[in-house]
This record gives sequence, structure tokens and C-alpha cells, in this order.
Amino acid sequence: MKTLALFGSTGSIGKQTLEVLRAFPGEFEVVGLTALKNTDLLTEQAKSLPGQSLHPQGTSHVQTFLAPTSAQTAALVAQADFIINAVPGFDGLAVSLAAVRAGKILLSANKESLAIAGKFLRELAAKTGAQIRPLDSEASAIWQLLTEHEQISSVTLTCSGGPFRGFTREQLANVTVEQALAHPTWKMGPKVSIDSATLINKVLEVYEVHNLFDIPLHDIHVTIHPQSMVHSMVHTKTGATKMHITQNDMRLFISYALHYPEQPECPWPIERARRSEMDFTQPDPETFRSLHWLKLHGGNPNFPIILNAMNDLAVARFLRGELSFLGIYDFIEEGLERYLWRKPPATLDELLVLHDEITEAFSKILQP
Ligand SMILES: NC(=O)c1ccc[n+]([C@@H]2O[C@H](COP(=O)([O-])OP(=O)(O)OC[C@H]3O[C@@H](n4cnc5c(N)ncnc54)[C@H](OP(=O)(O)O)[C@@H]3O)[C@@H](O)[C@H]2O)c1
Repeated sequence: MKTLALFGSTGSIGKQTLEVLRAFPGEFEVVGLTALKNTDLLTEQAKSLPGQSLHPQGTSHVQTFLAPTSAQTAALVAQADFIINAVPGFDGLAVSLAAVRAGKILLSANKESLAIAGKFLRELAAKTGAQIRPLDSEASAIWQLLTEHEQISSVTLTCSGGPFRGFTREQLANVTVEQALAHPTWKMGPKVSIDSATLINKVLEVYEVHNLFDIPLHDIHVTIHPQSMVHSMVHTKTGATKMHITQNDMRLFISYALHYPEQPECPWPIERARRSEMDFTQPDPETFRSLHWLKLHGGNPNFPIILNAMNDLAVARFLRGELSFLGIYDFIEEGLERYLWRKPPATLDELLVLHDEITEAFSKILQP
């Protein structure tokens, strides 16, 4: 049986991963689960894992860690064939890095690590024999659409538009945290929900796809598609467009990455022809400024690193009620102004130094 370690098991992707494992009993043995602070659910998950053996006292063999240290992360990674990274934000990079260093099969829902360090992770993976498989629906859709002989001219990532699709800047001025968390088509954790509302999520995905599949940034387009049925499109040199269409159910993408390349029959009911309409419109980069920055600064290697570092801080502040929704953009712009023209990092270590410097500088600003 293949062994698996699940980082971030108590979150949205973590819980859905456990559902997928339950649907395929006997295929994977979970050796470890981690969370940040939800100790009750973590313990409960470890006890109720499908197909796991229990000690005679009814306790689980599965190791559990709250906020694992780098040594604990490396030790857990060492015991598993498959590493699932469902930790949000920059902190997920530690999991991706440990998995790739150890030559494992990394399934990363964490788009942030792939967006800022995907190239470095792939270089390292080429040396260690690690595999990197995306769980993010848009990146997975591109992965599933690209075939060996396909000659592609460009790709399009779809975007539901989030809870504020069609809003003007004036309308965004007074939106609340609750409104921003209420994503219309996906039920996700708080960080990625806010990123979907600002469309910063989409910019991170553009870099994720760029880094994973070597597609030039100027050939990666974004379109608003409110139904969230089409997850990505590939435009071929022959003038055809291939779309990846599924229900908006992350279990499909988790199962695909777990089983790649051989795919089992989908165990969940598929609603065929549930909707007849599919809309595609252009996002408004003046209101959702993240797309404007992508156009302006996309080619600057510092841009995704600064965006990601500042965004982690800004989202935390927004969720605590310390920043308005539009304040997220203003705050990030301060970081872009200060760090965009620094010498870009040539190594992963230099990237980590730049990230830490930005985080330290702007965390200090936050001290009362
Ligand atoms: N949810 C989706 O549908 C979806 C879709 C595509 C991509 N993603 C990506 O998947 C990742 C996870 O998203 P999610 O929605 O599953 O998040 P989530 O619901 O907030 O869950 C996050 C998980 O990671 C743990 N965690 C949080 N911060 C941590 C930290 N600093 N160090 C260690 N563990 C930490 C949490 O533990 P506690 O429960 O103890 O806080 C929880 O187990 C994100 O990068 C997101 O962009 C998510």
C-alpha cells in the first residue's frame, strides 16, 4: 500500500482529501496528519481514518502534529510516498520544499509555493526525482489538457469572479469580511476565499501555471466564468480550444493527482448537463487591481514574491478587521513600490531572504 502524509488535514482540502481516501479503501495508508491549532479535529481524524490499524487501546498509529517544526516536517515526509500540501500561504513552501528535497510525490494544493518558487522546486525535483502534481483546479485542468504532442499557442484560466463580480470600486469600499468570505461557487478556507474575492488568487495561479508548465506569462489569459464549470482552456496552434469541464468538486482533482496516470472510475455521482449556459467575460483590472499589476509588473521576477508576502499579511489584517477590502490593494502597493526594483533572487535561499525581509518590514509597520 502507498503511504501518505497529509499536511493541513483539518482544512477544506485536507478534509476533502480524507473523503477521497475513504472512496478508495486499501490504496493509501496515512502515516501522518498535521494542523495549525485544531487539535480536536486532528485527533478525531487520526482515529477515524479509513482502513488504518489501531493499537489495542484504540489509539491510532497515525502521527499527528500541530504547527510542525521543520524537523518534524522532514521526519514525516521521510515516512511517506505521497505528500499532500494543503497548508495555505507562504508557510506551505516548507512542506513543498521538504517533499521535493526528499524526492517524494508532492501533491500541492498550496499554489503560493508553486507561484513564487515553482521554478526552483522543479530544478530541485529534477535532481532528487521528486514529482510535483498540482491539486488546484485550474492548474490541474491545464495538466490534464496538455498532451505530449499538443502544440499550444496559449491557455486561459477561468475565474468565477468571486463574491464581488461586477462590483465597482465604490461598491467595494464598504464590503465586509463576511461578504468577502461568501464565495459563490466554491467552499474554501478563509485565505483562498479572500484571494478569490480580490482576484489575487488568479494572479498566483498565472504564476503557478507558468512555473509548472513553462508557458510564457503573456500566453496565459484570465477570463471570468461565473458557473465554475470550465476550469481552464488550452488554445492549440491549429486554432482549436480545448476546455476542461467538470463539476466544481475538488475531490475530482485530488483523486486525479493521487491516481495519476491510471484513473479509476469516478466514485461520485456526476450531474450531466446540469446547466445549459456558460458565460465568459473579461475581468475589470481597474477595479480588481491585482490584474492591472500583473500587466504592469508581470515580467519582474520580484513581483510574485512581493505580491505573495504582502498578500499573506494583508489578508490576515483584513480578516482581523484592521484593513478594508480596498485597503488590501493599497497595502500591497506599498510593498511593490519598495521592493520591485531590488536585484531579483537567483536562488531559493535568496528568495527566502527577500520574503523574510518584506514580511519583517511590513509586520513592524503593523505593531501598535
Ligand atoms: N479549499 C479549496 O477548495 C482550494 C482550492 C484550490 C486550492 N486551494 C489551496 O489549498 C491550500 C489550503 O486551502 P484550504 O482552503 O484547504 O485552507 P483551510 O481550509 O484554511 O485549511 C488550512 C489547513 O492548514 C492548516 N494551517 C493553516 N495555517 C497553517 C500554518 N501556518 N502552518 C501549518 N498549518 C497551517 C490548518 O489548520 P487549522 O485547522 O488548525 O487552522 C488547516 O488544516 C491553499 O493554498 C489554497 O489556496 C484550496
